[in-house]
Amino acid sequence: MAVRSAILNVMVGAAEKASRTMKRDFGEVENLQVSRKGTNDFVTIADTRTEKTLQYELAKARPAFGFIMEESGVIEGEDPNRTWIIDPIDGTTNFIHGIPHFAISIALQEHGELVAALVYAPVFDEMFLAEKGQGATYNNRRLRVSSRTELSDCVLATGIPHLGRGDHEAYLPQLTSVMEATAGVRRFGSAALDLAYVAAGRFDGFWETGLQSWDVAAGILLVREAGGFVTEINGKGEALGGESILAANPRLHQPLSNLLTGKKTERLRAR
Ligand code: IPD
Ligand code: CA
Repeated sequence: MAVRSAILNVMVGAAEKASRTMKRDFGEVENLQVSRKGTNDFVTIADTRTEKTLQYELAKARPAFGFIMEESGVIEGEDPNRTWIIDPIDGTTNFIHGIPHFAISIALQEHGELVAALVYAPVFDEMFLAEKGQGATYNNRRLRVSSRTELSDCVLATGIPHLGRGDHEAYLPQLTSVMEATAGVRRFGSAALDLAYVAAGRFDGFWETGLQSWDVAAGILLVREAGGFVTEINGKGEALGGESILAANPRLHQPLSNLLTGKKTERLRAR
């Protein structure tokens, strides 16, 4: 494996620092489960604390870069062409419930293009990294999207709308079509990890609607650098900043887009 670049080292350093307190905070969540409100307030504090550490560490290494962050919003940098896009805890609902599936997500955008990505699941110590044109890695091993071509063999991830979130009516026909055509659907609760798992070939594809840039920025680059396609569900639009996202290996991407948009396909399988 090639030596990690300076920018990825900066990102890994920041994530490792932030994840130490994050893991301690996650341990505390179990003690707070008795009071739901108490847990939510505590997790907001944990979220903000993680974000502040990431911001501090990244700014220390690259003082001119700007930020787009889930908790603190946009912070303009002296360099208008370089921006960190950060989700301190993607999978907050899991975190609140004591479920260890959550991640730190950091992407670097340069001149509007995603150039570096990190998704780190601290409890499992799983580090997914990518750099534009350099490929993607998982704990230092090269990542590749899955090579499955039959929808009937595929496992897909999704985000299911819930109370107060998403278009429930539009979602159900999508789920029905995918349920009927594939080996299974998973809802793990972290879009950043869903995309990292597509990059790793664990999931064959992922779709969701209504995500924010910090949920998906790092994951998009991971999937692309692992050889996958990422667009909106219609198979065309740009997923970053778009209404929806569909990520999959290149053979499955179009058939999945057809399924999700209700387009007729000759066969319910990829060619
Ligand atoms: C959420 C997760 C989840 C997705 C939600 C996101 P958060 O991010 O990525 O998988 O379904 O729509 O908001 O709130 O845990 O950072
Ligand atoms: Ca998120």
